[in-house]
Amino acid sequence: MKKVTTIFAALACSITMQAQKFEGLANTPPMGWNSWNTFNTNINEAMIKETADALVSSGMRDAGYVYLVLDDGWMAMQRDSNGNLVPDPKKFPSGMKALADYVHSKGLKFGMYNCAGTLTCAKYPGTRGYEYQDARNYAAWDVDYLKFDWCNTAGINAKEAYTTMSKALRAAGRPMIFSLCEWGVNKPWQWGAPVGQLWRTTEDIWQVFDSVHSMGTWDALSVMRIADLNDSLRKYAAPGAWNDPDMLEVGNGMSYVEDKTHFSLWAMMAAPLIAGNDIRKMSQQTKEILTNKAIIAIDQDPLGIQGFKYADTDSMQVWFKPLQNGDWAALFLNRSSRVKEVYFNWKTELVTDKIFHHELDRNASYKLTNVWTGKEEGTTAKPVKAMLNPHDVIMYRLKK
Ligand code: GLA
Repeated sequence: MKKVTTIFAALACSITMQAQKFEGLANTPPMGWNSWNTFNTNINEAMIKETADALVSSGMRDAGYVYLVLDDGWMAMQRDSNGNLVPDPKKFPSGMKALADYVHSKGLKFGMYNCAGTLTCAKYPGTRGYEYQDARNYAAWDVDYLKFDWCNTAGINAKEAYTTMSKALRAAGRPMIFSLCEWGVNKPWQWGAPVGQLWRTTEDIWQVFDSVHSMGTWDALSVMRIADLNDSLRKYAAPGAWNDPDMLEVGNGMSYVEDKTHFSLWAMMAAPLIAGNDIRKMSQQTKEILTNKAIIAIDQDPLGIQGFKYADTDSMQVWFKPLQNGDWAALFLNRSSRVKEVYFNWKTELVTDKIFHHELDRNASYKLTNVWTGKEEGTTAKPVKAMLNPHDVIMYRLKK
């Protein structure tokens, strides 16, 4: 009897340890790079290795971008005779374990992509019906992150499909961040927290600031449209459970000012920061945006609160984000195409986060650091008064 009790105790302990391995994988929003926004399915071993090298040499890894994620297009068009997924032998001749080893040798983590449907969005084999088998293969390849898409899923229940894959990953035993790429169709913010660590809230982003980009049968979204949609979901975000307004388009064709604004907004929204540009060839300006430490610190703040749009008057927006130790981040954003004046009196505005219960202290004088220039700009004793170019921002960190 004693022996049986000991076996049960050992089993319970190992189950708990197994479950614990999956805790705390994304206490702050995941950061990394993903191949889709620039390369679509045109990916291969050489360019992924070069990207891993560039993540290190550019300082991106040290700034926090540790997950290198292969998106759609890494597979052969068919599973093998045992039902296993096979990497495209032309694109990835050394296979996925060797690539994961290379990525890990650079101090990075390795992510992959598949889809809850029968086929991926680019029509490679999907995971439907192969959840446990695919999860075991990812674990054997030492994968650290799985992005799981939502194409070709007619008749499938989203919560069930993502829960099945989540269980399969846990059963495979290797801790992986599970990224739900369900585009917000079935409100994943309502059920995603126990299933994965982040969920897409919208359709795909496109490298436009504030206009719709038609993809034929559907519309890709601008930076500002995504911010509009994602803002309303802030109450669902928490450490380990993030709203994902999609990957970054910094360095992919918008103006310098628009790229800065895009990055500022994603940081204010505690968004996962997954770069989507060709970092092997990025400009100095793009690198400076992506590796701005003060802004990354706002995104990665340990409180894990998604900021909110406080005001939007005639396309002049003000956003706030409560930070640890009573600090705040503030963003003034000119959405319009005209130069506009910012005027903000810290002493008369009542800035309250009603969901997470924080209030900006009107009686205090916070020191203002302009996080784009790095300059100290006085305190909240004086109102902010400045001219702002179209699509431009002023972003501050406030400290008591
Ligand atoms: C969907 C996703 C994108 C990308 C592509 C790949 O559109 O939302 O992020 O993964 O599929 O085909």
